[in-house]
Amino acid sequence: MAGLEAVLAEEAEQLNLTNIQPITRGITCEGNWAQLYKCNYLMRTAIRVLVPLAEFTIKTQDEYYEALRTINWSHYFTNQKTTFAIGATVFSEIFTNSQFATYRCKDAIVDQLMDKHGYRPNVNLEKPHLVFQVHLSGEKLSVLIDSSGKSLHLRNYKERAYKAPLNEVMAAGIIKLSGWDGTQDFYDPMCGSGTFTTEALMVAANLPAGQFIERFSFQNWPDYHPEIWQSVKESAQAYIKSPEGNLYASDINDYAVRDLKKNLQKHKFRDLVNIKKADFLESTGKKNGVVFLNPPYDKRIKMRNITNFYRDIADKLKRDWQGSEAWVISGNAQAMKNFGLKPTQKHTLDNGGISSKLYKFELYGGSKKAKYQSNPRSRD
Ligand SMILES: C[S@@+](CC[C@H](N)C(=O)[O-])C[C@H]1O[C@@H](n2cnc3c(N)ncnc32)[C@H](O)[C@@H]1O
Repeated sequence: MAGLEAVLAEEAEQLNLTNIQPITRGITCEGNWAQLYKCNYLMRTAIRVLVPLAEFTIKTQDEYYEALRTINWSHYFTNQKTTFAIGATVFSEIFTNSQFATYRCKDAIVDQLMDKHGYRPNVNLEKPHLVFQVHLSGEKLSVLIDSSGKSLHLRNYKERAYKAPLNEVMAAGIIKLSGWDGTQDFYDPMCGSGTFTTEALMVAANLPAGQFIERFSFQNWPDYHPEIWQSVKESAQAYIKSPEGNLYASDINDYAVRDLKKNLQKHKFRDLVNIKKADFLESTGKKNGVVFLNPPYDKRIKMRNITNFYRDIADKLKRDWQGSEAWVISGNAQAMKNFGLKPTQKHTLDNGGISSKLYKFELYGGSKKAKYQSNPRSRD
């Protein structure tokens, strides 16, 4: 996701992948089968793990079709029941419409299998065995196979989504950006259905990001290695541990609290998460914790006076959370201008189509108070 390339690269390093290069909204890297499976199972900030099949330079739609016909599709289509889907990303004058690029790729696959083996494989958009991606940028055509299948943010634990939930990959990415590793106390005081909290529990306990994903697309490939997959899963189990720091989640709304409990239901260590209904503005505050705040932006959740609300949040942090660190994600830049605290870090993120910023606030107390600077617009 935009803004999370650096944390994704860090995750790739931790898996010992090589030749890691950042690209727009992603990275490229090299690894073996076990690492490919680990990328899907363990990476918290990957959306799809794609394996390149071929690259071409093409100038026309006919050349596009002919290039795609040269790929040996029979390698993947091992029987007549194998279904497939294609995704296309096009930034090129050759096609004005990515849908048409998808159709022509489908034609190339179907025509080749018809000519070689006398059958037409079926497209299945819901649950395909194989997923291919074509990327056309100018004259450069890349063809890739998707080893994930569905977007990896669909971790299969979110049974309920209260208003304006964060994307799981975004929440995990913010936690990674903050450097929180589970040893300090964690607070999610506007938890909604609890994406931060659930991802934090998974980070703190080393629970695999893909622990509830039933099947990855690589399991449908002819060169799938079940024994390697089994050993990847077993070695991940050995790292699971009880979280060191305490986790606290709360929300002003009863339904949000209920939804978080539901979403945690399948997770190990769920009983270690302290959940309650509470108004953040009435909270007693804590020292030495890391607070993750995802307040309403006045977009999907409307507020009566968003500027005052944000000021009240900042005042609360200043007054009662000294000694802690706060990370605030908001898609309301105007309201953040009047927040009344000066961030020590800012990151631009694309939060479900809402351009958002993540702000870090260091809430110094005591002798460090001099360092603690107020925004000139602050009421203090
Ligand atoms: C954008 S949603 C949070 C979504 C959450 N991060 C998720 O992934 O599901 C904002 C939440 O703030 C809560 N909220 C608003 N005012 C609050 C307050 N004063 N104290 C605590 N929670 C509050 C709302 O009930 C809502 O659930």
